[in-house]
Parts: sequence; C-alpha cells; structure tokens
Amino acid sequence: MENYHIPVLLEKCVEALNIKDGGIYVDATLGGGGHSSKILQTGKGIKLFGFDQDPDALLHNQVLVKKYPEKFFLIDDNFSNLRTRLALHKIRKIDGILFDLGISSHQIDVDSRGFSFSLDGKLDMRMDQSGNLTAAEFLNNSDFKLLRKVFWEYGEEKQANKIANAIISVRKEQPFETTLQFADFLDKVISAKKRIKTKARIFQAIRIYINKEMEVLETALTDAIKILNPGGRIVVLSYHSLEDRIVKRIFNYEALDCICPPNFPQCNCDKVSRLKIITKKPILPCEQEIKNNSRARSAKLRIAEAKE
Ligand SMILES: C[S@@+](CC[C@H](N)C(=O)[O-])C[C@H]1O[C@@H](n2cnc3c(N)ncnc32)[C@H](O)[C@@H]1O
Repeated sequence: MENYHIPVLLEKCVEALNIKDGGIYVDATLGGGGHSSKILQTGKGIKLFGFDQDPDALLHNQVLVKKYPEKFFLIDDNFSNLRTRLALHKIRKIDGILFDLGISSHQIDVDSRGFSFSLDGKLDMRMDQSGNLTAAEFLNNSDFKLLRKVFWEYGEEKQANKIANAIISVRKEQPFETTLQFADFLDKVISAKKRIKTKARIFQAIRIYINKEMEVLETALTDAIKILNPGGRIVVLSYHSLEDRIVKRIFNYEALDCICPPNFPQCNCDKVSRLKIITKKPILPCEQEIKNNSRARSAKLRIAEAKE
C-alpha cells in the first residue's frame, strides 16, 4: 500500500485552490492522499471532502480520517456523484475543488488490478471493482465496430482496424484472460518499432472506456462549477490530450457570456458567464520535477475561478 506516487505539481495545486480559513474543499481524486494532506495542513478550520472510487485508496486514506477527524471526510464514490454525496453532508456550495485525473501509481503497480501491460494479472482495469465491465469482458464480447471505436477514439491508435480484426479472430480459439497474454498478442499484431507506444495506447483506451472516464469527467466538471461559491476555484490536473480537451472546452464554455451566432445583431441567449479562466495556458511541471517523478511528464494544470 506504500507505492502511491509523489503528488504532481503539489505546491501549485494547493496554491491554486486559494484556500481560505473555514472554507469547504473537495479532493475529487484522493489516490494516495498527497494533495489532501497538504490541503489539510494549509487551511485553518476548513472541511475537506475526499472522493475515490477505488477501495485501496479509501483504505489508504483512513490515516487522514484518524488524523483530522473534524476536518476530513472520506467519500467512497465516483466523483460524478459529487453533488448528491455532498448534499448528504448538507453541503450545497464549496470554495474549491481539485481533480488529479487518471489512475494512481498504486493501481498501475499492483499486478492483480490489470492496468499494466508489463505485469501479469487478470485483465480487469476497473477502478471501482464493485461493478461494471472488466477489460477481459470488453475484449471477449465486443463487436468489431466497438473495439475499433474505442481504440481509435480513446487511444488515438492508427492501427485500430487491424487490432480489432485480430482480436475477433484470435478470441474464438482462446479468450483473453490476462494482461501478459493480451500484451503478447499485441506484440504479434503490431510492428516491432511501435510496440511499446501502441500497447500503452491500447491499454489506455480500454481503461478509459470501461471506467467511462470521459463521460464522468464532463458531468463532474459541470456540476462542480455549479456549486462553487463566488471566488471559489476549480483546479484540474490532466495527463492526456483527451482529458485536457474536455477541461479546456468546459472552462471556455462556462466563461462565455453569450452563445448567439456571430451574425446575430443582438444577444438573445440566456447564457451566463460563471467562470473566469485563471490559466490561459496550462501550467506544466518543471524539468526537475519530471526528473524526480516521471508521472509528471505529461501533466497539465488548468485553473478557473467562479465569478461573483
Ligand atoms: C492520479 S490519482 C490521484 C493522486 C492523488 N492526488 C495523490 O496525491 O496521491 C487518481 C485517483 O483518482 C481516482 N479516480 C479516478 N477517477 C475517479 C472517479 N471518476 N471517481 C472517483 N475517483 C476516481 C483513482 O482511483 C485514483 O486513486
């Protein structure tokens, strides 16, 4: 349980939240609790609600529950249920929320979770292991069109067609069960030069699809913006372009105060601008941080603030 990673852009993220004494904050992606620990040390009299859908992360963060019984509240749920779960604590408005997207190093490093193509484990890849489709079920039961779509849309994989076709013909004889079995199969289908990157893209695509990562991100960002108090901050760390595009699009949309077509003589929409974008360009980790923590390599931090 000790192999949670060093939190990415830790100081910048906590600074970005602009923590006020007595405020209400949310860490939507607790993981190893690194960002949460720093938030709890920073704010006087604050309340912090920490979400994670992964039972390992919830167990790991019991230590924060014990250390900060009055300040820290653990919520075992998907962040797409943000508003409902906060309402159960009588919280309708918050002063800041942090999303540190994707999976944790712990999830990658535990072979039985099935996220890694270099560790042998069951093809699982569910962050929330209480339900939903496993990676093996997806690979063994999906039709060609769905396989191709997932590899193309979520992995941006040019060989999506070829890989989907090969899966359909191979699985009739031997269903996919383990990560290394599937990784060996991919090695045979793709050219040697592109093996590592292609395997990374295909594993990423399956993970995004079965955990519905893009859908829940849209819902949660939109909901989070609705419940920010004026001056409250939304802070998002993303790790690939698909996530970052969603963050950018939602921030830009929520910052607009008119969505009428440009040729309309006057505005007749009811659009209200809710957000001020703080980072026109995303903040990136410095070279030293990337050297110390390879996971920081692809991180992008975007910050926005709720308007008065
Ligand atoms: C990158 S890690 C967060 C690391 C954390 N900031 C830290 O300091 O250790 C992402 C965590 O978010 C969780 N997660 C990802 N998507 C989620 C979702 N939709 N709902 C709840 N938790 C989610 C994962 O299970 C994982 O533990």
